[in-house]
Amino acid sequence: MNYLIETIGCQMNMCESDVLSSVFSAYGASKVSSLSDADVAILNTCSVRAQAEQKAFSYLGRIKEFKQKNPSIKVVVIGCMAERLGSKIKKRFNSVDLIIGAKDIDNAALRIMDLFHMSNFAKKVNSEIKSEVTRYVTIMKGCDNYCSYCTVPFVRGKEISINFEKIVNKCSSMVKNGAREITLLGQNVNSYKCEDVNFAALIKKVAAIENLKRIRFMTNHPKDLSDDLIKIMATEPKVCSHIHLPMQSASDKILKAMNRKYSHEHYLKLIKKLRAAIPDISVTTDIIVGFPGETDEDFEDTLEAVKTIKFDGLYVFKYSPRPNTKAFGMIDDVPLQEKKRRHAVTLEEANKISIEIVSEIIGSTQQVLVEKIKNGIIKARTRGGRKVFAKGDKEEYLGKHINVNIKEAKVNSLFGSII
Ligand code: 5AD
Ligand code: SF4
Repeated sequence: MNYLIETIGCQMNMCESDVLSSVFSAYGASKVSSLSDADVAILNTCSVRAQAEQKAFSYLGRIKEFKQKNPSIKVVVIGCMAERLGSKIKKRFNSVDLIIGAKDIDNAALRIMDLFHMSNFAKKVNSEIKSEVTRYVTIMKGCDNYCSYCTVPFVRGKEISINFEKIVNKCSSMVKNGAREITLLGQNVNSYKCEDVNFAALIKKVAAIENLKRIRFMTNHPKDLSDDLIKIMATEPKVCSHIHLPMQSASDKILKAMNRKYSHEHYLKLIKKLRAAIPDISVTTDIIVGFPGETDEDFEDTLEAVKTIKFDGLYVFKYSPRPNTKAFGMIDDVPLQEKKRRHAVTLEEANKISIEIVSEIIGSTQQVLVEKIKNGIIKARTRGGRKVFAKGDKEEYLGKHINVNIKEAKVNSLFGSII
């Protein structure tokens, strides 16, 4: 089976696509990069914003045309949009052969292989499957937070923490096969709890895995981030110095309407604590502009916070009303033009700050983990999560920590030479 997989949306989706790929490769299937080479085209979808759903619809439109000329290709839609709009997709696109919603994602690989009668094939033994250097492991599913704008609790269901032994075994097996960095994923990893193991305790268990070099995690919720976690980030050398801590807004009125359950003051205190405990920490965030009721003053508060906190990276989204959510019942009163303006102003500010931050990195030496080597170029990442490129072709660098002297810096990538 040759499969093409297209992923829209968050890191959770990337991870689920990655899991599918590793199961397929264990059964001897090959990943291809063009429709004309594929026996099956898989689209992993996202429902967080209307834009993500429109993107999926237009992709399905293109595949429909392709399938008219190449009727043997199978088309599979998986993920959040498949959960939310499965029957609508089926009605609109008769080219789609199989729909697997986010809640049923664990069965996706077998159900897809069943289309090719492959699930009866013998699985290759585990040790034959060579892993990428960086891998993702889902530690919890769903979400119980019901932020008033968010569709995730509806499409992914209730929050469930996966058993810690299962997680540690999975991580160990990835490391045995070559993984050196693992990112632990959940909608709110800070509320992980399985028996008496909380998130900080889980990190300790994962950190004990021999040969694992780095641990990352996402995403965090300011209402649940604990001192225990900050302490382990400061003391466990395998935990990377990066935190993605969605701020969403700096206006207490808007945070309340978003049902975020923290004040901006609490958010600022967390940033202060994190920076005091982990001086080289890189802090990234998510912001929504144009939430119902967001006045000019509310937005200015958020912009001011962006200027003072100086995030290392920032994702900004125009509020998009989602069916079933509490905010769907609120009046979407910020005009699109104004949402666009606030989006552009925030991005412009974030860019200015990024240029300032990266220019300070020039001349420094960074410890990086080598993730890939292609055409004489090494692709690696700093502990803070910035991409680094350097000339080098020694295979033995793969999965190793090396030091790179940074010569040139752009907002999204650094360039340097190995020392
Ligand atoms: N509109 C705009 N942005 C949203 N996000 C989640 N739901 C919405 C929505 N309805 C953003 C939040 C979240 C990120 C993953 O997506 O900022 O942190
Ligand atoms: Fe959505 Fe809030 Fe849950 Fe994040 S914490 S997935 S924003 S409901």
